[in-house]
Amino acid sequence: MAASNQKGAAAIAANANAPPLLDLTIDNITPNTIRINSQSNNARLTYVMARLVTHLHDFARETRLSTDEWMASLQFLIACGQICSDVRNEFILLSDVLGLSLLVDNINHPKPPLGTEGSVLGPFHTHDAPVLANGSSMTSDPDGEPMLAVCTVKDTQGKPIAGVTIDIWETDSSGHYDVQHADRDAPSERCVMVSDDQGRFWFKGLKPVSYPIPHDGPVGKLLERLNRHCWRPAHVHFMFSKDGWDKLVTALYLRGDPYETSDAVFGVKQSLVIDLDKVDKETAEKYGVQEGSWLLKHDFVLTTQEETEKLRDQLAVEALEKLGLRLKLVDHLPVPDLD
Ligand code: BEZ
Ligand code: FE
Repeated sequence: MAASNQKGAAAIAANANAPPLLDLTIDNITPNTIRINSQSNNARLTYVMARLVTHLHDFARETRLSTDEWMASLQFLIACGQICSDVRNEFILLSDVLGLSLLVDNINHPKPPLGTEGSVLGPFHTHDAPVLANGSSMTSDPDGEPMLAVCTVKDTQGKPIAGVTIDIWETDSSGHYDVQHADRDAPSERCVMVSDDQGRFWFKGLKPVSYPIPHDGPVGKLLERLNRHCWRPAHVHFMFSKDGWDKLVTALYLRGDPYETSDAVFGVKQSLVIDLDKVDKETAEKYGVQEGSWLLKHDFVLTTQEETEKLRDQLAVEALEKLGLRLKLVDHLPVPDLD
Protein backbone atom coordinates (compact mmCIF):
# COMPACT_ATOMS: atom_id res chain seq x y z
CA MET A 1 0.00 0.00 0.00
CA ALA A 2 2.73 2.44 1.11
CA ALA A 3 4.81 1.51 -1.94
CA SER A 4 1.93 2.08 -4.35
CA ASN A 5 1.19 5.48 -2.72
CA GLN A 6 4.81 6.42 -3.23
CA LYS A 7 4.58 5.41 -6.88
CA GLY A 8 1.42 7.50 -7.28
CA ALA A 9 3.13 10.51 -5.69
CA ALA A 10 6.14 10.11 -7.97
CA ALA A 11 3.85 10.01 -11.00
CA ILE A 12 2.10 13.22 -9.92
CA ALA A 13 5.48 14.90 -9.36
CA ALA A 14 6.65 13.82 -12.80
CA ASN A 15 3.42 15.15 -14.30
CA ALA A 16 4.06 18.55 -12.79
CA ASN A 17 5.96 19.52 -15.93
CA ALA A 18 3.32 18.08 -18.21
CA PRO A 19 0.90 20.31 -20.08
CA PRO A 20 -2.69 20.65 -18.81
CA LEU A 21 -4.52 18.04 -20.85
CA LEU A 22 -7.69 19.97 -21.51
CA ASP A 23 -9.55 20.98 -24.65
CA LEU A 24 -7.24 19.04 -26.93
CA THR A 25 -7.92 19.61 -30.60
CA ILE A 26 -7.05 18.10 -33.96
CA ASP A 27 -4.18 20.56 -34.13
CA ASN A 28 -2.72 20.41 -30.62
CA ILE A 29 -3.24 16.83 -29.48
CA THR A 30 0.03 15.64 -31.08
CA PRO A 31 2.53 17.91 -29.29
CA ASN A 32 0.64 17.43 -26.03
CA THR A 33 0.70 13.63 -26.33
CA ILE A 34 4.41 13.80 -27.11
CA ARG A 35 5.07 15.98 -24.08
CA ILE A 36 3.20 13.72 -21.67
CA ASN A 37 5.18 10.76 -23.11
CA SER A 38 8.51 12.55 -22.65
CA GLN A 39 9.00 12.23 -18.92
CA SER A 40 11.19 9.15 -18.68
CA ASN A 41 14.94 9.53 -18.76
CA ASN A 42 15.19 6.99 -21.57
CA ALA A 43 16.02 9.22 -24.55
CA ARG A 44 15.54 6.47 -27.12
CA LEU A 45 12.08 5.51 -25.78
CA THR A 46 11.05 9.18 -25.74
CA TYR A 47 12.22 9.64 -29.33
CA VAL A 48 10.62 6.46 -30.68
CA MET A 49 7.29 7.27 -28.98
CA ALA A 50 7.35 10.82 -30.29
CA ARG A 51 7.87 9.65 -33.87
CA LEU A 52 5.22 6.94 -33.49
CA VAL A 53 2.63 9.40 -32.18
CA THR A 54 3.51 11.94 -34.89
CA HIS A 55 3.07 9.44 -37.72
CA LEU A 56 -0.01 7.82 -36.19
CA HIS A 57 -1.77 11.15 -35.68
CA ASP A 58 -0.73 12.42 -39.12
CA PHE A 59 -2.12 9.18 -40.60
CA ALA A 60 -5.51 9.84 -38.98
CA ARG A 61 -5.49 13.50 -40.04
CA GLU A 62 -4.36 12.76 -43.61
CA THR A 63 -6.92 10.00 -44.16
CA ARG A 64 -9.66 11.67 -42.06
CA LEU A 65 -9.89 8.20 -40.52
CA SER A 66 -13.54 7.30 -39.95
CA THR A 67 -14.74 5.86 -36.65
CA ASP A 68 -15.76 2.68 -38.47
CA GLU A 69 -12.34 2.33 -40.08
CA TRP A 70 -10.60 2.94 -36.73
CA MET A 71 -12.74 0.26 -35.06
CA ALA A 72 -12.23 -2.18 -37.98
CA SER A 73 -8.45 -1.72 -37.60
CA LEU A 74 -8.62 -2.53 -33.91
CA GLN A 75 -10.80 -5.58 -34.63
CA PHE A 76 -8.23 -6.66 -37.22
CA LEU A 77 -5.43 -6.48 -34.63
CA ILE A 78 -7.56 -8.39 -32.12
CA ALA A 79 -8.13 -11.11 -34.76
CA CYS A 80 -4.36 -11.28 -35.39
CA GLY A 81 -3.77 -11.84 -31.68
CA GLN A 82 -6.50 -14.45 -31.42
CA ILE A 83 -5.08 -16.67 -34.16
CA CYS A 84 -1.54 -16.65 -32.70
CA SER A 85 -0.22 -19.82 -31.08
CA ASP A 86 3.16 -21.39 -30.27
CA VAL A 87 3.56 -22.24 -33.95
CA ARG A 88 1.73 -19.35 -35.57
CA ASN A 89 2.61 -15.68 -35.35
CA GLU A 90 0.16 -13.56 -37.34
CA PHE A 91 1.94 -10.35 -36.32
CA ILE A 92 5.22 -11.44 -37.96
CA LEU A 93 3.17 -12.31 -41.03
CA LEU A 94 1.54 -8.87 -40.96
CA SER A 95 4.94 -7.20 -40.67
CA ASP A 96 6.13 -9.35 -43.61
CA VAL A 97 3.27 -8.50 -46.00
CA LEU A 98 3.54 -4.79 -45.13
CA GLY A 99 7.22 -4.81 -46.12
CA LEU A 100 8.29 -3.87 -42.59
CA SER A 101 10.30 -7.05 -41.93
CA LEU A 102 12.47 -6.57 -45.00
CA LEU A 103 12.88 -2.84 -44.30
CA VAL A 104 14.06 -3.48 -40.72
CA ASP A 105 16.49 -6.18 -41.91
CA ASN A 106 17.91 -3.87 -44.59
CA ILE A 107 18.38 -1.05 -42.06
CA ASN A 108 20.06 -3.28 -39.48
CA HIS A 109 22.17 -5.48 -41.71
CA PRO A 110 23.51 -3.35 -44.56
CA LYS A 111 26.00 -5.20 -46.74
CA PRO A 112 29.14 -4.06 -48.49
CA PRO A 113 29.14 -5.00 -52.20
CA LEU A 114 30.59 -8.48 -51.61
CA GLY A 115 28.50 -9.48 -48.56
CA THR A 116 25.61 -11.91 -49.02
CA GLU A 117 22.36 -9.97 -48.73
CA GLY A 118 19.72 -10.78 -46.13
CA SER A 119 16.13 -11.87 -46.64
CA VAL A 120 13.03 -12.31 -44.45
CA LEU A 121 13.21 -14.73 -41.52
CA GLY A 122 9.54 -15.67 -41.75
CA PRO A 123 7.64 -17.47 -38.99
CA PHE A 124 8.89 -21.02 -39.57
CA HIS A 125 12.37 -21.10 -38.08
CA THR A 126 12.43 -23.35 -34.99
CA HIS A 127 14.97 -24.03 -32.26
CA ASP A 128 14.63 -27.81 -32.25
CA ALA A 129 16.37 -28.66 -35.54
CA PRO A 130 18.94 -31.44 -35.16
CA VAL A 131 22.65 -30.67 -35.50
CA LEU A 132 23.71 -32.88 -38.41
CA ALA A 133 27.17 -33.80 -39.67
CA ASN A 134 28.13 -32.42 -43.06
CA GLY A 135 26.79 -34.61 -45.84
CA SER A 136 23.70 -35.67 -43.88
CA SER A 137 20.19 -35.67 -45.25
CA MET A 138 17.69 -33.29 -43.64
CA THR A 139 14.68 -34.64 -45.50
CA SER A 140 12.28 -37.35 -44.46
CA ASP A 141 9.92 -36.71 -47.36
CA PRO A 142 9.83 -39.66 -49.79
CA ASP A 143 8.22 -37.43 -52.43
CA GLY A 144 9.85 -34.39 -53.95
CA GLU A 145 12.99 -34.07 -56.01
CA PRO A 146 16.30 -34.80 -54.20
CA MET A 147 18.78 -31.95 -54.11
CA LEU A 148 22.41 -31.93 -52.99
CA ALA A 149 23.63 -28.58 -51.62
CA VAL A 150 27.38 -27.87 -51.58
CA CYS A 151 28.21 -24.49 -50.06
CA THR A 152 30.98 -22.42 -48.55
CA VAL A 153 31.02 -19.55 -46.10
CA LYS A 154 33.81 -16.97 -46.43
CA ASP A 155 34.70 -13.43 -45.38
CA THR A 156 34.78 -10.43 -47.69
CA GLN A 157 38.47 -11.12 -48.44
CA GLY A 158 37.59 -14.65 -49.64
CA LYS A 159 39.00 -16.37 -46.54
CA PRO A 160 37.01 -19.44 -45.39
CA ILE A 161 35.28 -19.14 -42.00
CA ALA A 162 35.34 -22.33 -39.95
CA GLY A 163 32.92 -23.11 -37.12
CA VAL A 164 29.95 -21.08 -38.38
CA THR A 165 26.60 -22.46 -37.17
CA ILE A 166 24.15 -22.67 -40.06
CA ASP A 167 20.42 -23.20 -39.55
CA ILE A 168 18.80 -24.49 -42.74
CA TRP A 169 15.06 -24.97 -43.32
CA GLU A 170 12.65 -25.48 -46.20
CA THR A 171 9.18 -26.87 -46.88
CA ASP A 172 8.41 -30.45 -47.84
CA SER A 173 7.34 -31.33 -51.36
CA SER A 174 3.74 -30.30 -50.58
CA GLY A 175 4.88 -26.75 -49.74
CA HIS A 176 4.37 -27.08 -45.97
CA TYR A 177 6.86 -26.59 -43.16
CA ASP A 178 6.94 -29.43 -40.63
CA VAL A 179 5.30 -27.21 -37.97
CA GLN A 180 2.28 -26.79 -40.23
CA HIS A 181 1.49 -30.51 -39.92
CA ALA A 182 -0.76 -31.13 -36.91
CA ASP A 183 0.78 -34.61 -36.42
CA ARG A 184 4.41 -33.34 -36.36
CA ASP A 185 6.33 -35.50 -33.90
CA ALA A 186 9.89 -34.54 -34.89
CA PRO A 187 11.65 -31.82 -36.87
CA SER A 188 11.85 -32.48 -40.60
CA GLU A 189 13.23 -30.58 -43.61
CA ARG A 190 15.44 -28.59 -41.26
CA CYS A 191 18.84 -28.99 -39.63
CA VAL A 192 21.80 -27.18 -38.14
CA MET A 193 25.28 -27.63 -39.64
CA VAL A 194 28.72 -26.29 -38.78
CA SER A 195 31.19 -25.16 -41.45
CA ASP A 196 34.43 -27.17 -41.61
CA ASP A 197 37.96 -25.77 -41.52
CA GLN A 198 37.68 -24.79 -45.19
CA GLY A 199 34.36 -23.02 -44.62
CA ARG A 200 32.44 -25.80 -46.37
CA PHE A 201 29.06 -27.31 -45.51
CA TRP A 202 26.98 -29.70 -47.56
CA PHE A 203 23.69 -31.51 -47.10
CA LYS A 204 20.92 -33.39 -48.85
CA GLY A 205 17.46 -31.87 -49.06
CA LEU A 206 14.72 -31.33 -51.61
CA LYS A 207 14.46 -29.02 -54.58
CA PRO A 208 12.32 -26.26 -53.02
CA VAL A 209 8.80 -25.55 -54.27
CA SER A 210 6.73 -22.35 -54.24
CA TYR A 211 4.05 -22.21 -51.53
CA PRO A 212 1.42 -19.86 -50.12
CA ILE A 213 2.05 -18.10 -46.81
CA PRO A 214 -0.62 -18.94 -44.21
CA HIS A 215 -3.71 -17.20 -45.59
CA ASP A 216 -6.58 -18.62 -43.53
CA GLY A 217 -6.38 -15.76 -41.00
CA PRO A 218 -6.78 -11.97 -40.92
CA VAL A 219 -3.59 -11.34 -42.93
CA GLY A 220 -4.82 -13.67 -45.69
CA LYS A 221 -8.15 -11.80 -45.74
CA LEU A 222 -6.29 -8.50 -46.00
CA LEU A 223 -4.29 -9.76 -49.01
CA GLU A 224 -7.54 -10.88 -50.65
CA ARG A 225 -9.13 -7.45 -50.08
CA LEU A 226 -6.04 -5.87 -51.64
CA ASN A 227 -6.20 -8.20 -54.63
CA ARG A 228 -2.77 -9.59 -53.76
CA HIS A 229 -1.71 -13.23 -54.05
CA CYS A 230 -0.22 -15.04 -51.07
CA TRP A 231 2.60 -17.00 -52.74
CA ARG A 232 6.32 -17.15 -52.07
CA PRO A 233 8.74 -18.32 -54.76
CA ALA A 234 10.63 -21.58 -54.12
CA HIS A 235 13.46 -21.03 -51.63
CA VAL A 236 15.67 -22.52 -48.94
CA HIS A 237 16.31 -20.54 -45.74
CA PHE A 238 19.77 -20.14 -44.18
CA MET A 239 20.82 -18.46 -40.94
CA PHE A 240 24.54 -18.03 -40.17
CA SER A 241 25.83 -17.33 -36.66
CA LYS A 242 29.29 -17.03 -35.18
CA ASP A 243 30.67 -14.71 -32.47
CA GLY A 244 32.21 -11.61 -33.97
CA TRP A 245 30.26 -11.95 -37.24
CA ASP A 246 27.05 -10.20 -38.22
CA LYS A 247 24.25 -12.74 -38.01
CA LEU A 248 23.02 -13.39 -41.54
CA VAL A 249 19.40 -14.41 -42.12
CA THR A 250 18.91 -15.11 -45.80
CA ALA A 251 17.43 -17.47 -48.40
CA LEU A 252 18.25 -18.66 -51.90
CA TYR A 253 15.52 -18.45 -54.54
CA LEU A 254 15.21 -20.48 -57.73
CA ARG A 255 15.44 -18.54 -60.97
CA GLY A 256 12.39 -18.84 -63.20
CA ASP A 257 9.88 -19.36 -60.39
CA PRO A 258 6.50 -17.85 -61.35
CA TYR A 259 6.57 -15.74 -58.15
CA GLU A 260 10.21 -14.60 -58.50
CA THR A 261 9.21 -10.96 -58.97
CA SER A 262 6.02 -10.89 -56.90
CA ASP A 263 6.94 -12.50 -53.56
CA ALA A 264 4.09 -11.87 -51.07
CA VAL A 265 6.64 -10.87 -48.41
CA PHE A 266 9.20 -8.99 -50.58
CA GLY A 267 12.13 -11.30 -49.70
CA VAL A 268 13.70 -11.78 -53.15
CA LYS A 269 16.90 -9.96 -54.10
CA GLN A 270 18.57 -10.57 -57.44
CA SER A 271 21.83 -11.60 -55.76
CA LEU A 272 19.92 -14.40 -53.98
CA VAL A 273 18.36 -15.87 -57.14
CA ILE A 274 20.24 -18.97 -58.25
CA ASP A 275 20.21 -21.63 -60.95
CA LEU A 276 20.36 -25.28 -59.95
CA ASP A 277 22.73 -27.67 -61.73
CA LYS A 278 22.50 -31.42 -62.14
CA VAL A 279 24.85 -33.74 -60.22
CA ASP A 280 27.47 -35.32 -62.52
CA LYS A 281 28.97 -38.81 -62.13
CA GLU A 282 32.03 -37.70 -60.17
CA THR A 283 30.01 -35.52 -57.75
CA ALA A 284 27.46 -38.32 -57.34
CA GLU A 285 30.22 -40.73 -56.26
CA LYS A 286 31.91 -38.16 -54.01
CA TYR A 287 28.74 -37.24 -52.09
CA GLY A 288 26.86 -40.53 -52.32
CA VAL A 289 23.87 -39.19 -54.28
CA GLN A 290 22.13 -40.13 -57.49
CA GLU A 291 23.71 -38.88 -60.71
CA GLY A 292 21.32 -36.44 -62.40
CA SER A 293 19.72 -35.22 -59.17
CA TRP A 294 19.57 -31.47 -58.45
CA LEU A 295 22.69 -29.62 -57.31
CA LEU A 296 22.70 -26.30 -55.44
CA LYS A 297 26.14 -24.68 -55.24
CA HIS A 298 26.61 -21.39 -53.43
CA ASP A 299 29.31 -19.34 -51.74
CA PHE A 300 28.02 -17.21 -48.87
CA VAL A 301 29.96 -14.16 -47.66
CA LEU A 302 29.70 -12.94 -44.05
CA THR A 303 30.69 -9.53 -42.74
CA THR A 304 32.18 -8.91 -39.31
CA GLN A 305 30.06 -7.22 -36.64
CA GLU A 306 32.50 -4.31 -36.76
CA GLU A 307 32.18 -3.91 -40.56
CA THR A 308 28.38 -3.97 -40.35
CA GLU A 309 28.18 -1.55 -37.40
CA LYS A 310 30.38 0.96 -39.18
CA LEU A 311 28.33 0.78 -42.35
CA ARG A 312 25.04 0.97 -40.41
CA ASP A 313 26.19 4.08 -38.50
CA GLN A 314 27.37 5.74 -41.69
CA LEU A 315 24.04 5.07 -43.46
CA ALA A 316 22.09 6.22 -40.37
CA VAL A 317 23.92 9.56 -40.26
CA GLU A 318 23.32 10.08 -43.99
CA ALA A 319 19.60 9.21 -43.68
CA LEU A 320 19.10 11.52 -40.68
CA GLU A 321 20.87 14.39 -42.41
CA LYS A 322 18.53 13.94 -45.36
CA LEU A 323 15.53 14.12 -43.01
CA GLY A 324 16.91 17.35 -41.57
CA LEU A 325 16.50 16.07 -37.99
CA ARG A 326 18.95 17.15 -35.26
CA LEU A 327 19.93 13.78 -33.94
CA LYS A 328 22.98 11.95 -32.66
CA LEU A 329 23.73 8.23 -32.44
CA VAL A 330 23.83 6.67 -28.97
CA ASP A 331 24.61 2.93 -28.95
CA HIS A 332 24.24 3.11 -32.75
CA LEU A 333 20.63 4.39 -32.49
CA PRO A 334 19.37 7.93 -33.16
CA VAL A 335 18.18 10.14 -30.27
CA PRO A 336 17.56 13.91 -30.27
CA ASP A 337 20.76 15.94 -30.06
CA LEU A 338 19.95 18.48 -27.34
CA ASP A 339 23.52 19.66 -26.75
C1 BEZ B 1 8.74 -18.23 -45.16
O1 BEZ B 1 9.45 -18.13 -46.11
O2 BEZ B 1 8.86 -19.20 -44.46
C2 BEZ B 1 7.75 -17.16 -44.83
C3 BEZ B 1 8.18 -15.86 -44.78
C4 BEZ B 1 7.27 -14.87 -44.46
C5 BEZ B 1 5.95 -15.19 -44.23
C6 BEZ B 1 5.53 -16.51 -44.31
C7 BEZ B 1 6.44 -17.50 -44.63
FE1 FE C 1 10.03 -20.07 -46.36
